[in-house]
Amino acid sequence: MCGIVAYIGNRDSVPILLEGLARLEYRGYDSAGIAVVSRSGDLRVRKVKGRVPELAADVPARLKGSPGIGHTRWATHGEPSDANAHPHSCGPIAIVHNGIIENAEELRAGLIAAGAKFSSQTDSEIFAHLIAAQFGIGSDSPAERAEPGDRGEAGDRGEPGEGAGRGEPVDLEEAVRRALKSVVGTYGLAVLDARHPDRLVVARNGSPVLLGIGDKEMFAASDVAALVRYTRQVVHLDDGEIATLHADGFRTSTLDARRTTKQAAVVEADVASYDADGHAHFMHKEIHEQPGVVERVLRGRLDDRFYTAHLGGLNLDPREARAIKRVKILGCGSAYYSGVLGAQLIEELARVPADAEPASEFRYRGPVIEEGTLYVGVSQSGETYDTLAAVQEVKRKGGHVLGVVNTVGSTIARGVDGGVYLHAGPEVSVTSTKTFTATATVFALLALHLARIHDLSPADGRRITDGLRKLPEQIAQILAMEEEIASLAKDLAHYPGMFFVGRVRGWPVAREGAQKLKEVSYLHAEAYPASELKHGPLALVGPELPTVAIVPDDELIEKNLATLGEIKARRGRVLVVGHSAPDGELADNVLAIPKNEHELDPILLSVPLQLLAYHAAVALGNDVDRPRNLAKSVTVE
Ligand code: G6P
Repeated sequence: MCGIVAYIGNRDSVPILLEGLARLEYRGYDSAGIAVVSRSGDLRVRKVKGRVPELAADVPARLKGSPGIGHTRWATHGEPSDANAHPHSCGPIAIVHNGIIENAEELRAGLIAAGAKFSSQTDSEIFAHLIAAQFGIGSDSPAERAEPGDRGEAGDRGEPGEGAGRGEPVDLEEAVRRALKSVVGTYGLAVLDARHPDRLVVARNGSPVLLGIGDKEMFAASDVAALVRYTRQVVHLDDGEIATLHADGFRTSTLDARRTTKQAAVVEADVASYDADGHAHFMHKEIHEQPGVVERVLRGRLDDRFYTAHLGGLNLDPREARAIKRVKILGCGSAYYSGVLGAQLIEELARVPADAEPASEFRYRGPVIEEGTLYVGVSQSGETYDTLAAVQEVKRKGGHVLGVVNTVGSTIARGVDGGVYLHAGPEVSVTSTKTFTATATVFALLALHLARIHDLSPADGRRITDGLRKLPEQIAQILAMEEEIASLAKDLAHYPGMFFVGRVRGWPVAREGAQKLKEVSYLHAEAYPASELKHGPLALVGPELPTVAIVPDDELIEKNLATLGEIKARRGRVLVVGHSAPDGELADNVLAIPKNEHELDPILLSVPLQLLAYHAAVALGNDVDRPRNLAKSVTVE
């Protein structure tokens, strides 16, 4: 989604903003812009439709200054264009905004009636006019021409909420606070006022904002990726909080001007994680990180005495865990598909009914929150709005929610009753790979934990712990098949689309495989349960539509082979992803991968499909890490 970065301090903010925006590009990227208070005290705004390098080329070398704010945009209100790019300004005020203003039409009409002149179609521009209006500045107003650098209005040094009635001069924080009171919607917001270059104001409601503490300098961003080059000390704002940043510190308060106290956290992000490190793409790098990632997920969590798994953050004692009657997993996109895989594992191993549901659907259908159900919110970013809202819906109704989250300190991680961090490291490519595998592995651990509390035997517990330990090495063996997979992908990329079929354990694998392919190759990819093929989609099968069939060596293999027979009878091309080549003429190509325990095989079967999607996208010349129309983290509805 859109990204925000802001800086105040003695350094020139321009390179810091551009560097930060480049790090945020993976969140959203159809336009980019910065606003800086120049050394002569003027507000300078540069913004372009396009990517950060295009913005950098547009910024004159002589433009230097502080404070500054920057933004990368993923269009929601108004098409991508120079005018719709952020920052938006009104007189000396400039803003960048993530989120959506729900009462935009009404606010815009009121501002226009009062003389404001809008220069974009965005809802975000409303913030610039609303805040400026608190100072009596409107597009038609003479005050707009107040000289930049013209300091010291009466309310300027006041504390939040102090003095200043409506229409009287107020300080920037109070002006932002007043403006926010009339806004219904979500925001991560950064505001500067060229007349007061000693401060920046940021605010958060439903869209993440972090402060970064430096040495006599302060940063703010929507994502830690923009900060890690400069500082590891961060403060997460909560919803409904406003912060004023000065070079030497910050203060936070609520919308009602009550002061809040914040603890700084140290983030452990590795700067190198944000470099492609010799790989052509982040997606490639992240696929290849998987053996190490799975090893990290497992580290210290397997118990060889009782053949179970320990997940320290669950906050469930054995009695509470035994009382779980059902598990409901909620997430979006690949997080949802990892939940489908996880639910299958939990139900199969622990014999506890489990299912997964798209978080967005769940929260709108007025779900019944059942006693004895364990709810699990899954999110790589920990910021996906739909998942967060679903988690909040469960909590509001008194349900117990766990989080399976990658980003430490993220909103979902802070809003759940307990959970498990993936520790997969930052995932930069829009499409999830290593975090899908890490999440699936966490679900295997959770399944084992619940299973051994219920009635899985120690012998079966041992079978699973041994199987889990083999995963990293087996993933490495699959990655060594890359050349073979790449040549298949190149060949298949010329078809107009592909079918993905799988049965039971293979079904979530097929769904995630189709998701990967469509995200990065833009080929039409449809996943179907193999058992359902003859109930409709078989009508589409023919020589022009290849099928990727997930055929593990398990008790359902005969059924899967029968499905292949149905496809071959219609002269469809078949790629089998499984453990061995089927007899006869049932497959045109086979990717035979290492076998693990049948419950854990789906984790491994997903890996070749990542490489298949990656190489199909490369063959088609697509921008693999930044697929069209998609954003890494969707922090709006
Ligand atoms: C976006 C991304 C998907 C991702 C989904 C959930 O739609 O494009 O790749 O799976 O969000 O993201 P999360 O951060 O909650 O896992």
